[in-house]
Amino acid sequence: MKKIKMILDCDTGHDDAIALMVASKHPDIELLGVTVVAGNSTLDKTLPNTLHVVQHLGLDVPVYGGMAKPIVKAQEVADDVHGKSGLDGPVFDELKIKAQDEHAVNYLIRTLMESDGDITLVPVGPLTNIAMAMLMEPEIVKKIRRIVLMGGAVGIGNSTPSAEFNIYVDPEAAHIVFSSGVEIAMMPLDLTNTALADEKVIERMANIGNKAGQLFADIMSFTLHSQAVNGLSAGPVHDVTAVTYLVAPELYETKKMHVDIDLSKGPSYGRTVCDINDRFHLDKNVTVGLKIDLERFWDLVEDVLRRHI
Ligand code: RIB
Ligand code: CA
Repeated sequence: MKKIKMILDCDTGHDDAIALMVASKHPDIELLGVTVVAGNSTLDKTLPNTLHVVQHLGLDVPVYGGMAKPIVKAQEVADDVHGKSGLDGPVFDELKIKAQDEHAVNYLIRTLMESDGDITLVPVGPLTNIAMAMLMEPEIVKKIRRIVLMGGAVGIGNSTPSAEFNIYVDPEAAHIVFSSGVEIAMMPLDLTNTALADEKVIERMANIGNKAGQLFADIMSFTLHSQAVNGLSAGPVHDVTAVTYLVAPELYETKKMHVDIDLSKGPSYGRTVCDINDRFHLDKNVTVGLKIDLERFWDLVEDVLRRHI
């Protein structure tokens, strides 16, 4: 089977790191590059955090630093969940590898324009890099195979009652992406909050006995308690669900619907307005993940971690 060509766009972050571990070793994925954006923490943390995971696991993938600030909105980070470093918990060796010199937005534009239109973008942080690439070179819209993202919520948000973090950090970027016409699959909080890395899951991955399994345990042990703020009993691996949807859509229950981004400056700013009952009769621009087969999801994650060192 032809491998799926993808670019991971992330704001590493605990669950981003696990998404990178899965995307880098799944047999059906060709991970072309990793672009990094400010989100969970500032770019001067999300970029080295990403590089640490690449170095620690000896991954052969180029990493590109991207946008340091949202397009319009004042920057907000999630250090309550991810800690001061943005990836508190694991202890890494001194960072020796570097990011590419090319800016992530220029890398996205160049790679997509040179491609045959067969590259999937998998953003699992704020959509600033993707939106900026679309603004700088609108021709890339036709060259993006599809976007599979973690973000948004059909129901309650986690940054505000209305808005999920990735969208809320840069709502204008999300609006540009969601109204671009590119085929989108969205894994919202309603689904991702069920993918909880509790003690049992952490022990299961640690028992794999390799560096990746231990890194999973070190990373997700930190979020065991940092998500209580959202009423969760353990840390969800939100971002991993976007990568696993790419390679195993059969694990998901989905529904196509119109999704718009609320840019009103009131309490619903940054909300993904998901027209699940088609009240507006508008184009169904997004495939929304509603449920996931968790048993098969964790089996898939374990299988991929076993492929690491
Ligand atoms: O709301 C969850 C999302 O926000 C995840 O991508 C997590 O990494 C943070 O970026
Ligand atoms: Ca993320």
